[in-house]
Amino acid sequence: MLFKRQLSVLIILAAAAHAVSFHKTTGLEKRIDALLSAMTLEEKAGQLVQYSHPDLRNAEDRIREGRIGSLLNIPADAEKANRLQAVAVKESRLGIPILFGFDVIHGFRTVFPIPLAESCTWDTEMAEQNARIAAREAAACGVRWSFAPMVDVARDPRWGRIAEGAGEDPFLGAAFASARVKGFQGDSLSHPESVAACAKHFVAYGGAEGGRDYNTVDCSELTLRNCYLPPFRAAVDAGAATLMSAFNDLNGVPASANAFTLTTILRQEWGFEGFVVSDWNSIGELIPHGAAALPEEAGLLAIRAGVDMDMEGGVYDRHLAGLVRSGKLDSALVDLAVRRILRVKFALGLFDNPYTDPSLARSILSQSHLNQALESARRSIVLLKNEKDLLPLNKKASIAVVGPLADNRRGMLGSWSGRGSEKETVSVLEGIREKLGNSAAVYAKGCDVRGVSRDGFEEAMRAAGQADVVIAVLGESADMSGEAGSRSDLGLPGVQEDLLKALVETGTPVVLVLVNGRPLALPWAAEHVPAILETWQLGIQHGRAAADVLFGDANPSGKLTASFPRATGQVPIYYNHKNTGRPPRGQFRFGSTYIDCLPTPLFPFGFGLSYTAFAYAGLRLSAETILPSGSIEISAEVTNTGNRSGDEIVQLYMRDPAASVTRPVRELRGFQKIRLQPGETRTVQFTLGPNDLGLYNTRMEWVVEPGEFMVWIGQNSAEGLEGRFKVLE
Ligand code: GLC
Repeated sequence: MLFKRQLSVLIILAAAAHAVSFHKTTGLEKRIDALLSAMTLEEKAGQLVQYSHPDLRNAEDRIREGRIGSLLNIPADAEKANRLQAVAVKESRLGIPILFGFDVIHGFRTVFPIPLAESCTWDTEMAEQNARIAAREAAACGVRWSFAPMVDVARDPRWGRIAEGAGEDPFLGAAFASARVKGFQGDSLSHPESVAACAKHFVAYGGAEGGRDYNTVDCSELTLRNCYLPPFRAAVDAGAATLMSAFNDLNGVPASANAFTLTTILRQEWGFEGFVVSDWNSIGELIPHGAAALPEEAGLLAIRAGVDMDMEGGVYDRHLAGLVRSGKLDSALVDLAVRRILRVKFALGLFDNPYTDPSLARSILSQSHLNQALESARRSIVLLKNEKDLLPLNKKASIAVVGPLADNRRGMLGSWSGRGSEKETVSVLEGIREKLGNSAAVYAKGCDVRGVSRDGFEEAMRAAGQADVVIAVLGESADMSGEAGSRSDLGLPGVQEDLLKALVETGTPVVLVLVNGRPLALPWAAEHVPAILETWQLGIQHGRAAADVLFGDANPSGKLTASFPRATGQVPIYYNHKNTGRPPRGQFRFGSTYIDCLPTPLFPFGFGLSYTAFAYAGLRLSAETILPSGSIEISAEVTNTGNRSGDEIVQLYMRDPAASVTRPVRELRGFQKIRLQPGETRTVQFTLGPNDLGLYNTRMEWVVEPGEFMVWIGQNSAEGLEGRFKVLE
């Protein structure tokens, strides 16, 4: 027992040491000390508030009086930012620069695939590059803080914000969190193209009951530590300058007033030294939550818990000074919050270089950025079904393009599309016509995204009847996911499924191209439509990427990072679920299943097809037994058995089938993307060590427990070559 405790302590210490110390240098701290000693209480409170520029009354006056430290949603140009910055630097008493923030979630002007789509590339290097481009374009317009990456693990696709993250898995989510932070922040925050990252929404926002946005989250500390916290830990370890506290109630204490998460875990366990901004008025919302009766009480709760900046809440600027003067609030807490914020402003170089160089704007929408957006879009596409190799299509075929999302540029951008413009976006129809020639594809809208009218069906049927193949572009509009975008039904909206059935009824082969911001429940389509391409919302190059894959100029390689349910009633559904005492067994009634639906997903986590095929063989483990502190190598051979080159995302899963706490039936512990030529075989190897094999026990200690472990190397979370080994006492 003693050994385990020592090991667990060692692992925690190692992890804490790994936490990036946030630019704390003696010189910097002395500069901050000097400012703090000169600041009035009102000026300190001013540094702790952020307002959205369009809503701010007489912004310049408040800046001049030192009563605001940050603005969000400013118009996108350097000139405007510099004008406001000059008021802060030259006209305010202490010349403390303004920090301009904006939601740069998946691109600024060059809009990339929504993060959920990008995560289906399983390509963290690409994600880092994309974030870097987004930062470069945002910084060129004066934005030096992005409220991204959103790192909320989401297991319930009714929740519209699943679109903004990396899906259902903590391990993959952590990898993307780290990559996106590094992309935004670069090697140095003071570089003029770097922006401060903001890992959000801390924490467990994705666990909203019923998938209903802003709803209550009630989860065990084990679930918090195993599921929701890992991506935030990865973001902090990657040096994230800021975090954003979430809207939700968390186990009875709202996340924006939760000292356990904001101080005990974030500061004391992880050593985070940046600052925490509230979500929009989430401090003020402590009152409707029922955690505070008055705004000053809400402010007291939030700053004591560890929220440093009040976004649009109007609480800190109105009440902090009074709370200090009345003795209710220790002024040291205000100073600490100001120090954290000034640290980031210094780290960004804003004191030494407060203005934006307008010439940086030359990078916006550059060809290299557009090329990156196109390649990201291609790799985000997931081929879900391809009966009799209907895809790729023959470029000489006569095509009917049908559906409300076929010629819908706004729908390609998804939620949180930054400063992206429809004018710069390519629709699916435009992408097809650009590739095949303008007269190549007949178009019929068929119906609206939502609504009951079938008036367009006849024209769509006519087009389908005269074509060799129908491309049905169906799904969700951009505003049906993202914030406040929860849906109670995960089917195709409106009458789109009726349109799809009518198209299939014509007998012309149908390819379903999905444009959506979440997993959908599509049992009819999965059974009756020969080919299904999940294209998500791919940003400004959506149409070109979709056309490249449809006609074979790109081979799809994406794999799902969120499970697709058979029915809405199945959610929350995720691959890394517990086994239960009665795992489902075929038709046996008394298993954990439904009487009207299979318990398995329609398409599982990690699933995605290719225009070629891959075979797995030769699983090998470097040992049959290891010590708890030991590591083990696991490898397999992957062969491209098809007739064209392709990328394969090889996945490593593990399971601890008997432990002091029940463990998931599978847990992702590694992934590698490889490109294989036809006939080529490659050995792919992974290593598992204590950080992978361990678990939080009931005392919340990270320990590696002895016993048998199972591992799989495979193409998705439902298949793979299985091996076993033992961890000794
Ligand atoms: C919104 C979102 C948050 C965003 C912030 C600023 O309410 O919850 O993700 O960063 O406000 O726009």
